[in-house]
Amino acid sequence: MKGSEQGSAVPAIGRREALGVAGVAACGLALAGCGAGGAEPDPAPGIKGQVIAKTADVPVGGGTVVDRWKIVVTQPTEGVYKAFSAVCPHRGCAVGAPRDNVMTCPCHGSEFAVDSGKSLKGPATGQLPAYQVKVEGDGIVVV
Ligand code: FES
Repeated sequence: MKGSEQGSAVPAIGRREALGVAGVAACGLALAGCGAGGAEPDPAPGIKGQVIAKTADVPVGGGTVVDRWKIVVTQPTEGVYKAFSAVCPHRGCAVGAPRDNVMTCPCHGSEFAVDSGKSLKGPATGQLPAYQVKVEGDGIVVV
């Protein structure tokens, strides 16, 4: 009797099952990574703690787009600064510099509120993910 023959048939099924389980597990992990809705976006490595804009460059009711990190920094009301991903959730274009409390995507015209990043006008739905920021001196820093 050759133990290796019996041993090889059973593990072959086991391998297929194992691959299926691994595939489901990998998919689940991928979904968990993609489905982290509401979570803070993962900024460019090393951005935390860095000055992303100067307060003087961010007008009240408007803002500025920081191309380096694809972030838009806004000042909805005097002294209140916000930051959002500049990547439009519709098809990924970068929104333009905010004006009159609105960020507009140049590709298809979606509009977003400067205070919340929420969609005001489609085709984009949802909102631009927000970054937590604070003011240090004359700079706006991602925390
Ligand atoms: Fe922004 Fe389509 S990519 S509205």
